[in-house]
Amino acid sequence: MRVWRPQAFLAFLSVARAQPAPYPNNSYPIVNATNPGGLDNAISPPFYPSPWIDGSGGWDDAYQRAKQFVSQLTLLEKVNLTTGTGWMSDACVGNVGSIPRLGFPGLCLQDSPLGIRFADYVSAFPAGGTIAASWDRGEFYRRGYQIGAEMREKGIDVMLGPVVGPLGRNPKGGRNWEGFSPDPVLSGIAVAQSVKGIQDAGVIACTKHYIANEQEHFRSPGNFEDQGFVDALSSNIDDKTMHELYLWPFADAVRAGTGAIMCSYNKINNSQGCQNSYIQNYLLKGELGFQGFILSDWDAQHSGVASTLAGLDMTMPGDTDFNSGLSFWGPNLTLSIINGTVPQWRLDDAAVRIMAAYYYTNRDKAAVPVNFNSWSTDTYGYEHMHGQAGYTLINEHVDVRQEHGMSIRLAAARSTVLLKNTGVLPLTGFEKFTAVFGDDATENPLGPNGCPDHGCDNGTLGMGWGSGTAWFPYLVTPLEAIKNEVLRNNRVVQSVTNNWAYSQITALAKQATVSIVFVNADSGEGYITVDGNAGDRRNLTFWQDGDELIRTVTASSNNTIVVIHSVGPVVIEEYKNNPNVTAIVWAGLPGEQSGNSIADVLYGRINPGGKTPFTWGKQASDFGPDLIYDPTNGALSPQDNFNEGVFIDYRYFDKNNATPTYEFGFGLSYTTFEYSDLKISKSSAGPYTPTTGQTIAAPTLGNHSTDPAQYQWPANFTYVRNYIYPYLNSTDLAEASKDPQYGVEVELPEGSTDGSPQPRIAAGGAPGGNPQLWDVLFTATATVTNTGKIAGEEIPQLYLSLGGPSDPKVVLRNFDRLSIQPGQSATFTADITRRDVSNWDPATQNWVISNYPKTVYVGGSSRNLPLSASLDLGGY
Ligand code: NOJ
Repeated sequence: MRVWRPQAFLAFLSVARAQPAPYPNNSYPIVNATNPGGLDNAISPPFYPSPWIDGSGGWDDAYQRAKQFVSQLTLLEKVNLTTGTGWMSDACVGNVGSIPRLGFPGLCLQDSPLGIRFADYVSAFPAGGTIAASWDRGEFYRRGYQIGAEMREKGIDVMLGPVVGPLGRNPKGGRNWEGFSPDPVLSGIAVAQSVKGIQDAGVIACTKHYIANEQEHFRSPGNFEDQGFVDALSSNIDDKTMHELYLWPFADAVRAGTGAIMCSYNKINNSQGCQNSYIQNYLLKGELGFQGFILSDWDAQHSGVASTLAGLDMTMPGDTDFNSGLSFWGPNLTLSIINGTVPQWRLDDAAVRIMAAYYYTNRDKAAVPVNFNSWSTDTYGYEHMHGQAGYTLINEHVDVRQEHGMSIRLAAARSTVLLKNTGVLPLTGFEKFTAVFGDDATENPLGPNGCPDHGCDNGTLGMGWGSGTAWFPYLVTPLEAIKNEVLRNNRVVQSVTNNWAYSQITALAKQATVSIVFVNADSGEGYITVDGNAGDRRNLTFWQDGDELIRTVTASSNNTIVVIHSVGPVVIEEYKNNPNVTAIVWAGLPGEQSGNSIADVLYGRINPGGKTPFTWGKQASDFGPDLIYDPTNGALSPQDNFNEGVFIDYRYFDKNNATPTYEFGFGLSYTTFEYSDLKISKSSAGPYTPTTGQTIAAPTLGNHSTDPAQYQWPANFTYVRNYIYPYLNSTDLAEASKDPQYGVEVELPEGSTDGSPQPRIAAGGAPGGNPQLWDVLFTATATVTNTGKIAGEEIPQLYLSLGGPSDPKVVLRNFDRLSIQPGQSATFTADITRRDVSNWDPATQNWVISNYPKTVYVGGSSRNLPLSASLDLGGY
């Protein structure tokens, strides 16, 4: 178990770890995918200098305005823009300093990906991993827009979401539910639509956690009660897997214009995420042409100069360790600029990137003053909570919810997945005796927000735990909603919500004509442990003795409907095969309208159309490599070798011929669908051309004095305790640095301070990567017919086989959600892009279309693909 707070290392001049010599000819030999054994102690090659923003891909206007703004700033003001003010120093979970001279109030950064954390009068939306089950671009966008609109009205500048890291390598990963799906294409489409929605509402989206943050255990360096000091885990990934799996949805987020990206706690190939020059400089800002800013996860910055040169643009929450009063940046950044260690263009670039995101999302027009305070629900209190300073009006209790509750109800119902139905569903409401079972059907006795950051599993599960949560304005329970249905028709409804009251459960189950059992499985962020689960799940069984509950009910009731609220898959093979289980419904983490949403589905007002965004395995071991729960490398970084490569979730099951309980993409409806008539048309896009040429030189905006006297504390300054300011404590720089090693020569990575024009990256060229990757090479159409008796929604899915010996059997590439009347047909139309048919080639550092034959498949799930056609790649 982790004892909270990682070590703080101040060494602002330290250059992280010794970097190996750069590789010749720009070849970055990250371990070859065909040599899985080779990932042990993988290294991350250096890449410098950190690319500067160029305004490409629709960012030019924002870029120009940002340059103009930053040109007016003093050095201290630039530093203020990049450095957080410290944990709990201001109203939001993260805040950067203000620029009073220009009337700029600073920036407010706030969790979470599913609504506003630590605020009253806000909505609690379905979690990312739940909305993913809607497979509906409109739902993704609308949810993003509505969360963004709520953030905007509370005065938030940067929303700390959406999430595509973790992707969901293993279903036990504690925070998988914050993201969308272990499939990169479903995640990529969901994140792109979310980013657009959030930013159209006038708030900067911060896509996180970059990258390979696939488990909670050992995500940060720290001292553990039973294990002593253990350094941060290293996710060791080969280049092909990086591109074809984990980076893929980040590319989509960048292409959609995400204004910010949060670097993650973990190491990647043994280099700490927020100072990893390869993943930040080369992949994100170079190849993906990211125009916005990289901000650190909270205390994920572990160095000053090293992280600056490796591309970090903003440090959060600004202090080295919560409330240490010290910062790797702040005064140390000021100092490293005036003593010439960090070139001014790098700081200018960081500031311009931050302001470009601000203008790109129209924050200059959309901003309202912050009107809540994360640290108190009181109306009056301290503006600077940690420093206990500035007693004032801190919470105006602005109700920002509008009519979002109605969309939330519908979105959660449309994301509900019907896994099994022998015909009992939909219910009529006229069932003679309805019995409801399970603690998961009812209220948390401590209140819907009674456990800090939802760190408990009491009552119905509407979201997981940790920073990825929001406060419920209310939580409609399943029991309330079901009672309403039944009482409307004057029938009988009773419940037992104590999961261990076996005799009462049995007695009630015997009387019932229909039994509805609510069970759940929870997980969350690693700083909270619930029932022995330190963030990550320890197993894939139900919580609160849910398995025993189902067994007890089904022993006495032959008409049992199992409703699951869970963060991901649970082992349910037994219930699939149990004839007394007449239906299984996965409702995910539905948010505030939980009861209403599930009642809409159970009673047939909404015909379920959701499809599972992950595979349900028969046992935990079917999912491949387990998480690392114990240190594997002494006090050094546990080495987490992603030896399975691109084979996670359904790709892993397919490769191993393992039969899942329910496959990825599966979901039933109250009607039925048939597929026919696949046609492929080919475009005239032509061959791919790599990006060539050079960037401009790094712009330097304005001058600054190198005289330390200019950067001392202003006279008569009222200092707030532990607040991070940009000023120096002394005109003696060694003294100001507080670093006993100050002045000791350190070798900076080669090229890291070079602001001259740089070669452009072949696979790059615009936000998201080389624009030709999105050329549409083919368009597929197919007919989907509703062969049942009621209207329904079907999600046709398009998969590809890329044909090579190291390719997955099939990979998802596109989908749609069609509403079809009984007896009618609709046309599914799906584009196939160049990226869709390509593989990443580590040797040429680019996407290539292999010579292997490629086949398109269309159908209703990853294992139900009745239509197929081969692709003619000639000319591409
Ligand atoms: C740490 C979490 O990893 C991140 O997702 C969150 O945004 C920050 N804490 C701020 O709460």
